[in-house]
Amino acid sequence: MPSISTEPCTFALFGALGDLALRKLFPALYQLDRAGLVHENSRILALAREAGTVQEHLANIEEHLRKYVNDTQLEPEHVDRFLARLSYVHVDFLRPEDYHTLAEVVGDAELMIAYFATPAAVYGAICENLARAGLVERTRAVLEKPIGHSLESSRRVNAAVAQFFPENRVYRIDHYLGKETVQNLIALRFANSLFETQWNQNYISHVEITVAEKVGIEGRWGYFDQAGQLRDMIQNHLLQLLCLIAMDPPADLSADSIRDEKVKVLKALAPFSAESLHQQVVRGQYIAGYSEGRPVPGYLEEENSNTQSDTETFVALRADIRNWRWAGVPFYLRTGKRMPQKLSQIVIHFKEPPHYIFAPEQRMQISNKLIIRLQPDEGISLRVMTKDQGLDKGMQLRSGPLQLNFSDTYRSARIPDAYERLLLEVMQGNQNLFVREDEIEYAWKWCDQLIAGWKKSGDAPKPYAAGSWGPMSSIALITRDGRSWYGDI
Ligand code: BG6
Repeated sequence: MPSISTEPCTFALFGALGDLALRKLFPALYQLDRAGLVHENSRILALAREAGTVQEHLANIEEHLRKYVNDTQLEPEHVDRFLARLSYVHVDFLRPEDYHTLAEVVGDAELMIAYFATPAAVYGAICENLARAGLVERTRAVLEKPIGHSLESSRRVNAAVAQFFPENRVYRIDHYLGKETVQNLIALRFANSLFETQWNQNYISHVEITVAEKVGIEGRWGYFDQAGQLRDMIQNHLLQLLCLIAMDPPADLSADSIRDEKVKVLKALAPFSAESLHQQVVRGQYIAGYSEGRPVPGYLEEENSNTQSDTETFVALRADIRNWRWAGVPFYLRTGKRMPQKLSQIVIHFKEPPHYIFAPEQRMQISNKLIIRLQPDEGISLRVMTKDQGLDKGMQLRSGPLQLNFSDTYRSARIPDAYERLLLEVMQGNQNLFVREDEIEYAWKWCDQLIAGWKKSGDAPKPYAAGSWGPMSSIALITRDGRSWYGDI
């Protein structure tokens, strides 16, 4: 039996028939249950307002579960136990009466987890209706991203929720924080003195964070076109990664100690002037190209698209952090849809040794790199300089990896999906991996000034072919500083 335990809870999933719930949340709950981490008295309530019978909705959920969980992990006894915990309740999120039905179903359960997998615009109404039905005091509220689309709108959402839920019962999701390798950043940085002494502008020349996706818009044009890649990925996932790399060591592992340090980084991000925006930020939009050898349409040719849209599907930028640790160390961030491969990685480039004694023609090679691979092939690799083997080689240098590949090293363990970790943490009442209100707001503040700068400049996004690494100007962005994106082919 696992040593971790959770208390009994009623897990109420608002938006239970939506894509996120069907694809990610039910499979994650199933895996937790399968691992013996869900208390035997816990129940799962699927809440939605779609027409249809209870049987149809439950069958739909089961069908998706079977689709998204690997066959080898669908043992009949586990599936049966999971389905026995599950019920469907018809709730129109805006109808107070429906919450009384919900309250009856919840009964005297001591802990309810209300997961809002719905548009943020209805979070306030859900909270208010939960309060009217007497369901707030014993509830933890889990909020999905995006929380607003600007500082102002995120403040409105946060304020609407805060009327009913204190911050210590609000769990704002950024699913990147649930990824094993992302949590490993904390262990890597603060459980090894080796790195922490080098982790500053004296030793690090620059940092790259790439989150590339092979897929395009996947039928989400309506949502995505309102958001764009900056709001959809940089405002949350990439800035969270940047914070975990750049933050100072927290005093302890408590949620607030970690979040205080992350907020300091966000506050220190340099804003862009009209000139630096032009030089340091590239927006792109994919045009038709190839993905895995197959022709694929451009963004403006996707299903349900508006052919006039100038929403970006790619962003590359250079961020600077104004503090002692990072002065003069650029953080290059890059993220896009329809890239050649799915790849999320962080590369820390260390400076060259201060005095160079090897052959002049090898000079370019001399730098250590720490590569943290989030997906796929989760692992960490440190590129170190060694001498090439052999009598004929002389003092010829080569760069080789010291490698830690998580799936080879920890063979027995399945790498859990980010949502499994996050749902487990909510059940345990641990807020470490969730985003605090001020973090969200500082991140929006920085993104808002970027978006305002784009609007003012009136520049259209630069085209790039689907299946490429983005517009040429994203390469120029880094080569201008005498560097290149690590590993691009
Ligand atoms: C989501 C974005 O938050 O993250 C999506 O809304 C994106 O557009 C997804 O595809 C990427 O997540 P992952 O875990 O597949 O890297």
